[in-house]
Amino acid sequence: MENKVIDESRQGEAMMMESGNNSGKKLFLESYGCQMNFSDSEIVASILIDKGYTTTNDYKEADVIFVNTCAIRENAESRVRQRLQDYKKVKKNNKSALIGVLGCMAERLKHQFLEQEKLVDIVVGPDAYRDLPNLIDVAETGQKAVNVILSKEETYADISPVRLDNNGVSAFVSIMRGCDNMCSFCVVPFTRGRERSREPETIVRECKEAFDKGYREVTLLGQNVNSYLWTGGGLKKEILTEEQRNNATTFAQLLEMVALIHPDLRVRYSTSHPKDMGDDVLEAMARHENICKYIHLPVQSGSSEVLEKMNRGYSREWYLDRIAAIRRIMPEAAISSDIITGFCGETEEQHQETLSLMEYVKYDFAYMFAYSERPKTLAERKYKDDISEDVKSRRLTEIIDLQRKHSEQRTKEGVGKIHRVLVEGISKKSTEMMSGRNSQNSVVVFPKGNLKKGDYVNVLATSCTSSTLIGEVV
Ligand code: 5AD
Ligand code: SF4
Repeated sequence: MENKVIDESRQGEAMMMESGNNSGKKLFLESYGCQMNFSDSEIVASILIDKGYTTTNDYKEADVIFVNTCAIRENAESRVRQRLQDYKKVKKNNKSALIGVLGCMAERLKHQFLEQEKLVDIVVGPDAYRDLPNLIDVAETGQKAVNVILSKEETYADISPVRLDNNGVSAFVSIMRGCDNMCSFCVVPFTRGRERSREPETIVRECKEAFDKGYREVTLLGQNVNSYLWTGGGLKKEILTEEQRNNATTFAQLLEMVALIHPDLRVRYSTSHPKDMGDDVLEAMARHENICKYIHLPVQSGSSEVLEKMNRGYSREWYLDRIAAIRRIMPEAAISSDIITGFCGETEEQHQETLSLMEYVKYDFAYMFAYSERPKTLAERKYKDDISEDVKSRRLTEIIDLQRKHSEQRTKEGVGKIHRVLVEGISKKSTEMMSGRNSQNSVVVFPKGNLKKGDYVNVLATSCTSSTLIGEVV
């Protein structure tokens, strides 16, 4: 996905939940990285709770310690390595405790963990979670256990995720897995394999179940949701007949199917790819009030030459045309982005083009990164990572400063307006205030009154901080 990052703020956060089972074995599960990883951890928890595990938030008392990892940038991997050193100490007191690495790093580094670093007992790639109970059995006999086979079909469609890290209001629902885009900087196609879409009926069912349990927001997840296409299973997108294509379910159609579950169920999605973002999706969003008016449309760079080297499949002009389409079809939509600075050979002028594109779009929000070379990627093989750390860091600061200005500006534009807010819980700053988000994904805080999680409320924003609207219920 443009691996979407609630991660930067949530990196390292442990997820726990209570369950009533009593096999006695305790699982500690920690997730790093994108929303997709958090969603995968809910599949992992579901599989193991089915086998009688309970979960714990204290790794020191766990029988099985799993870390679901991210490989997108080098610093994400270093953080996991440090964490593994902590886990390893557990073995001093509890020799039978098992440590497992799941997800993208497991896929990328495979046997290295087991053979060279001897840090872990179990290594499992993102498509092999159904095999976890067997792998644990193998590891319990003292052997190392590994399954990093990538699948062309696995979507875990039939597994009901156990909602972890749970506010009881927002649920994440995977609609596809893998990525076929091969952006030259990105390791995801190697760690998560080929793109495959999940059957729409199972997606709608999962969303409906979440609504029935009290959830009021679902976020549909995929690395590139705009290329979602359900063809009835097994049919390759590239070689469909016209009739098969007409019968297939597109992302725009799926969005509408989910939106129609109930007007009080908000629908969000992540992540879009500019090259595949069609007007049909924007029109579907505009037609349904409950599809949130927020689009994450990662640009990566404002320079067409850099975009070409990044193998993004669009130019600056194409991207700006998509921004114009959003503004035309949904003038009230908030737009966010991902930006990479210091990609191979990026000149000062090309960096300026990124700043000028930002100035033009004025994103509501952005995730900004210095380029980090990843092994095996197209960029690693083809280009030199020749921008010095100093230059990367200076350019990144310029980008962050500009974005901060725009975010503040956008937040201020919300003052004086009435926002429909889904209440998510007590505000972090004051127990007298509740907090939630508007359709554009801005955080809004307001006096608690008799409100509870999951309510919808209209709030007149009367002031703001740099990123939060503050207001009164009207
Ligand atoms: N270096 C820096 N940032 C990267 N991203 C992906 N790969 C890299 C990399 N090698 C960023 C992109 C992507 C987001 C999830 O992470 O901006 O959209
Ligand atoms: Fe996103 Fe491109 Fe990576 Fe696919 S290859 S996950 S589209 S950045």
